[in-house]
Amino acid sequence: MINLMDGFTLDLPEKEKEKAFQKMMELLNEVETSLEEMPVYHGKTQREIYELFARELPERGEPIAAVLNEVKDKIVPHSTLNIGPYYQSYVMSCSNHAGFMGQIISTFFNQNATKWHLGSVSAELEQLVVRWIKAFMELPADSAGVLVSGGSAANLTCLTVARNEFLGLRVKKEGLYGQKPLVLYTSTEVHYCVVKAAEMLGLGSDYVRKIAVEKDLTIDLIALQQKIEEDKAAGLRPFCIVASAGTVNTGAIDPIDALADICDREELWLHIDGAYGGLAAGVPNVAAHYQGLSRADSIAVDPHKWLYVPFEAGCALFKKEAQMPATYSHLPDYLVADRTKEERRDFMEYGFQLSRSDKALKIWMTFKVLGAEKLKSAIDQDIEKARYLGASMEASDLFEVVATGPLSIVCYRFNPRGNDFSEERLEALNQQLLDRIEEAGKVFITATRVWGKLSLRSCFVNHRAQQRHLDFTFEHLRQLALELI
Ligand SMILES: Cc1ncc(COP(=O)(O)O)c(C=O)c1O
Repeated sequence: MINLMDGFTLDLPEKEKEKAFQKMMELLNEVETSLEEMPVYHGKTQREIYELFARELPERGEPIAAVLNEVKDKIVPHSTLNIGPYYQSYVMSCSNHAGFMGQIISTFFNQNATKWHLGSVSAELEQLVVRWIKAFMELPADSAGVLVSGGSAANLTCLTVARNEFLGLRVKKEGLYGQKPLVLYTSTEVHYCVVKAAEMLGLGSDYVRKIAVEKDLTIDLIALQQKIEEDKAAGLRPFCIVASAGTVNTGAIDPIDALADICDREELWLHIDGAYGGLAAGVPNVAAHYQGLSRADSIAVDPHKWLYVPFEAGCALFKKEAQMPATYSHLPDYLVADRTKEERRDFMEYGFQLSRSDKALKIWMTFKVLGAEKLKSAIDQDIEKARYLGASMEASDLFEVVATGPLSIVCYRFNPRGNDFSEERLEALNQQLLDRIEEAGKVFITATRVWGKLSLRSCFVNHRAQQRHLDFTFEHLRQLALELI
């Protein structure tokens, strides 16, 4: 028996929907205009947040207005405000208005950016914004790319192609059985997602050579060359160098041109992890650090970092376009029936995913509304912010700067002048300071280790942070530090 309920839908009644749209936008706008006064972090325990939401599965729904009230009461005060001016942690941007609107519009249209005829605008915009990203980075126009979820995905996307190109495409069929180990070279400062990619690709993390670094935390070229020789002599197969164009710890940029020379000589793939710093390559004040970038075989960059685009948006770039479908294309019957003589780019052939959210619109709107010049100025300003905060730390007698790089990170620690604290005591004091910063919830700062020392780390991918927020940060940290001794 057919039981079709005509008129049944999950949609809200017209009036309720209209009011809810309005209420949602009013709420977001209210938050947006209060970012400066709101705590960047809630300070609640895991249990407290859990208890806010832990309810049985609802059998019946409730009005959207009631749920939006819950959003106001529970989501708004407990979200980490990386969109606000007091966030300076990890490598995360504060987003931008045009990108945010692009994200909402993309979500509304729910395009599947996989086959051209499912999202023709998405497919064309994706090709366009990849071209714009290359132009922004001053890369040659003939390279190509694909949008992915982020830097980790971009690195994996690139390294998969690197492995396949090195071994030959037969590896897609035959796997790695019987192969001599392939060796990947990078520095001790590499982002862990590169190691993860090597694990996922069956290369094995034992064959990721983390080469020692120089004083400026860039890869030691002599140690690298020696290791390559050693591995060749041991019958292993060097296949790839991964250079960091902005390490996550300090923003160090490896000597790309010199690494490209080694790759040419040794016939290795040169991949650049530019998830953090790649998009700064065309910023005049730092461009010199990126010499040789156009020689790379592949580059991972992250528009959700230094293009200030909301999550998620990464980009995998390749010198040779045909290498992407060579690795990723599969054409099952049900996905090719629409193919005509007309040229159509189906992005399902350019990466791992089949269903893909549209990521191009928010990048397109960001470039259109802000323009490359202003975006480069924002990057430049972020770099200045790290320098400014570093200078305040340096000038005080409470903190020491442990490391800075050419980009927007400064690492520092509480180490009062003239004290005779042991390294253990300094470690404990800085851990306490870090905990107090989080408890206070006024600025969001995390830590890393530089040369083994626990160091607080401020990273600016935040056009909303102004000088007054940096001054506040310094004063706040100074006060908290003084309470420790
Ligand atoms: C240098 C570097 N590589 C890779 C990543 C990973 O990027 P994502 O978090 O977008 O996956 C990051 C993240 O901060 C990074 O800084």
